[in-house]
Amino acid sequence: MALLTSRITAWLFVISVAVVLLIISWGYLSESISRTAVSGKFRYRGEGSLFEYWNIIRNSTSPPPVFTTSHKPKNADATKTVSVTKLKPDRIAATTSAPVVETPMPILSKNSFKGLPQWDFEEVYNQDAPPRQTTCAQSLRKSEDPSFKKAFLPNIRLYLHKDNFNMSEWNRLSHFNNPFGFMGFKYDEVIPAVKLIPKPKEPLLLPKPGSGGCVRCAVVGTGGILNGSKKGKEIDSHDYVFRMNGAIIKGYEEDVGNKTSVYVHTAHSITMSQYLLKKYGYTSIPNDEGIKHVLIPEGMRDFFWLEGLLKGERVTASPFHNKRPRTYYGGQYNETRFYVLHQDFLRYVRNSFLKSRNLNATFWAIVRPTNGAFTVFLALHTCDVVDLYGFMTEDYNKYSNYYVEKTKTHVVFFANHDYMLEKNLWSKLHKSKIVKLYQRTDAEAQTEKPKQH
Ligand SMILES: *[C@@H]1O[C@H](CO)[C@@H](O)[C@H](O)[C@H]1NC(C)=O
Ligand SMILES: *[C@@H]1O[C@H](CO)[C@@H](O)[C@H](O)[C@H]1NC(C)=O
Ligand SMILES: *[C@@H]1O[C@H](CO)[C@@H](O)[C@H](O)[C@H]1NC(C)=O
Ligand SMILES: *[C@@H]1O[C@H](CO)[C@@H](O)[C@H](O)[C@H]1NC(C)=O
Ligand SMILES: *[C@@H]1O[C@H](CO)[C@@H](O)[C@H](O)[C@H]1NC(C)=O
Ligand SMILES: *[C@@H]1O[C@H](CO)[C@@H](O)[C@H](O)[C@H]1NC(C)=O
Repeated sequence: MALLTSRITAWLFVISVAVVLLIISWGYLSESISRTAVSGKFRYRGEGSLFEYWNIIRNSTSPPPVFTTSHKPKNADATKTVSVTKLKPDRIAATTSAPVVETPMPILSKNSFKGLPQWDFEEVYNQDAPPRQTTCAQSLRKSEDPSFKKAFLPNIRLYLHKDNFNMSEWNRLSHFNNPFGFMGFKYDEVIPAVKLIPKPKEPLLLPKPGSGGCVRCAVVGTGGILNGSKKGKEIDSHDYVFRMNGAIIKGYEEDVGNKTSVYVHTAHSITMSQYLLKKYGYTSIPNDEGIKHVLIPEGMRDFFWLEGLLKGERVTASPFHNKRPRTYYGGQYNETRFYVLHQDFLRYVRNSFLKSRNLNATFWAIVRPTNGAFTVFLALHTCDVVDLYGFMTEDYNKYSNYYVEKTKTHVVFFANHDYMLEKNLWSKLHKSKIVKLYQRTDAEAQTEKPKQH
């Protein structure tokens, strides 16, 4: 009897673990396939891979971490155990007189902070992107909107590569959680990948001949608002089209267009789309000749992915262990057209435009803008004119999560993204004419409804 009971208990345990796994992976699914999301329900979701998630659980019984750092966060009570010791304040790269630092600082753990730590160099960014003089009269760079002018940093460093990286950069960025820095990561695991990232040889985009110097871009999200929109031709008429995550084109050209110039992804989104979107006919990422690939290094798994990709070998660790990254790029992988977003750029997007109140919550470390939001900002920094399609609008409730869905679904919110904050930002940028946000007119939305007889 006792044996039976313990077997039952063991099975119940196995089943509950399976359910937890299922819930977590569903979270990933929705992240990859949804840009617009609702339900009112707020779910908690592991930000990293299952791999990272289990590590956190496993470590929860370990003694409170003790670390040394030259800088104490301003919100010092956000920390549980911080011992501040001798390290010189000017070890940080942001100060011009920084002496050469040879060793990586002790690893900080996210578990030490109850909310986003506030470092005094939080908003110090590398701002050395090559100046982009634009002759475009209606360039968003010429916007007179005061709040945009104040927040927008035209020369923020966009890309991470082997030549703009060194030990003081490592130490500075190790104060910020991923994807905004390397907190909790091991130097020896990240460096082999970073040392392989080539310095971009060409700007992401150049004005097309006859465009009056204006780079006109469409950024296509995956929102259900595009279903039945017939916006395909309009989207393709832009000089460049940005897409991200599970961007399915085949069968949806009339609504979403068929051109992709820049594809933004993470190791997770590029691998998971294959499984999660198979039933919608997904075969690979867009594979236009000459397409540019941009990686958001969101977690440690992206550095393992990068190392495999850049070496042309299999991934050696992470949930994507043994995968061959180069086979995921629709035959278009080419190092000269591959870009990795810089942690300073990602942090700037969050700090200047999308600072969610949830960064003060216990789950602060998973709170970050969506891949769609990062893509919009990449476009704002590389184009003169930006039109958004398939992004969240005021009437998001009328549409499904995702344009590919055949039956109406409710938009689902996940705790790691602040969808309302993003929706309000798109609306604000639209009103101040910095972007044009595609919204459906009532007349259009009406024709969607079944006729009443
Ligand atoms: C968990 O603890 C081990 C051993 O102390 C450490 O190597 C690992 O980095 C920790 N993982 C996390 C996610 O903190
Ligand atoms: C390290 O890299 C940063 C950013 O690229 C640069 O500003 C700094 O001068 C470099 N420091 C050293 C010691 O090379
Ligand atoms: C997109 O469709 C147009 C015609 O509708 C075609 O000429 C063009 O080659 C297509 N582009 C791609 C990338 O498939
Ligand atoms: C990679 O892309 C560059 C720039 O577009 C091009 O010059 C080069 O020929 C391409 N290499 C291969 C192997 O296709
Ligand atoms: C977090 O709380 C502090 C103190 O109440 C406040 O100053 C800060 O603005 C909050 N941060 C966010 C992102 O809401
Ligand atoms: C997508 O659009 C079609 C045609 O307008 C419509 O019949 C269908 O109900 C829509 N699907 C969803 C899930 O909204």
